[in-house]
Amino acid sequence: MIADDIVLIAKKEISVVKNLKDLNMLKIKYLGKKGYITKQFMLIKNLDKNNRIYKSIICNKQKKQIKKIIIKRKKEIEIEQYNNKFLDQNIDVSLPGKYISPGSKHPITNIIYEIEEFFTNIGFKIITGPEIEDVYHNFDALNISKYHPTRTEQDTFWLDKNILLRTQTSNVQIRIMKQHKLPIKILTSGKVYRHDYDSNHTPMFHQIEGLFINKKVTFVDLKGILILFLNFFFGKKCKIRFRPSYFPFTEPSLEIDILNNNKEWIEILGAGMVHPYVLKNIGINNNKYCGFAFGLGIERLAMLRYNISDIRFFYENDIRFLKQFRSNNFI
Ligand code: PHE
Repeated sequence: MIADDIVLIAKKEISVVKNLKDLNMLKIKYLGKKGYITKQFMLIKNLDKNNRIYKSIICNKQKKQIKKIIIKRKKEIEIEQYNNKFLDQNIDVSLPGKYISPGSKHPITNIIYEIEEFFTNIGFKIITGPEIEDVYHNFDALNISKYHPTRTEQDTFWLDKNILLRTQTSNVQIRIMKQHKLPIKILTSGKVYRHDYDSNHTPMFHQIEGLFINKKVTFVDLKGILILFLNFFFGKKCKIRFRPSYFPFTEPSLEIDILNNNKEWIEILGAGMVHPYVLKNIGINNNKYCGFAFGLGIERLAMLRYNISDIRFFYENDIRFLKQFRSNNFI
């Protein structure tokens, strides 16, 4: 057999091989330990110097060429097998794919994140609290009298005599004041539950609650922070009014109303200086420490910002409604 013949013969054989197993057999036949090329290399040592050089050049060239042919055929077989796989399975790879629509955060979640960011920037720490609560944290410790109407079944979802779905995020105030060292500067958000259902109320809605306890916290601090926040949230100087109010756990208490596009005053939050009784009952020295608390209805804020007339839209899962608030943030 002369030099190039073997490459031609190998090429012919390799080109008709149909699977990787047979191809491997040919690889062994030509390049394996006992293969044709290896044998040729072994014969070189018996030759004289000139022929040795000549023969080794030829052998290396053949080895390289056969290797190349095998690699090329291997790729071809792999592609053939890949295509056959789809033929077998009746898969049409040219069909357009299914569009998977990316989800996005609920507008209420986005608003919570936005509010949390504002308050963390001015030093508030974000914490969470339980939605299933006991009477002590939801009512008693907040100075809400035993006979207060909010305790009745008409207002509160009771799970048993002592356990209920929290009616306000103020329950977290008590838990934090009992657990944390002073000063306290926290913000908590989450679901609250009340027996209510109309265009302005759903049985579940969201509140954000802030609490700041330190040695010299004043009513002016409370007013300043709330004005700053509302202007930030609505992106302009909004028309608000402070109205004296009553909450059993704050004294003095106030509510803030905001003027909507229809020139109506809408109540958006309750706040006040934490009642000395509340501090005393928890064991905080109320001669040394004082503070403020506030609670905002998040759906209310969202409705005002986006001009939404019915709170129930948020929870009907109508994609056409929710899509309007889609942000670029799909996480
Ligand atoms: N918890 C009150 C409510 O649900 C709001 C509030 C929070 C008022 C904190 C004063 C201080 O209406």
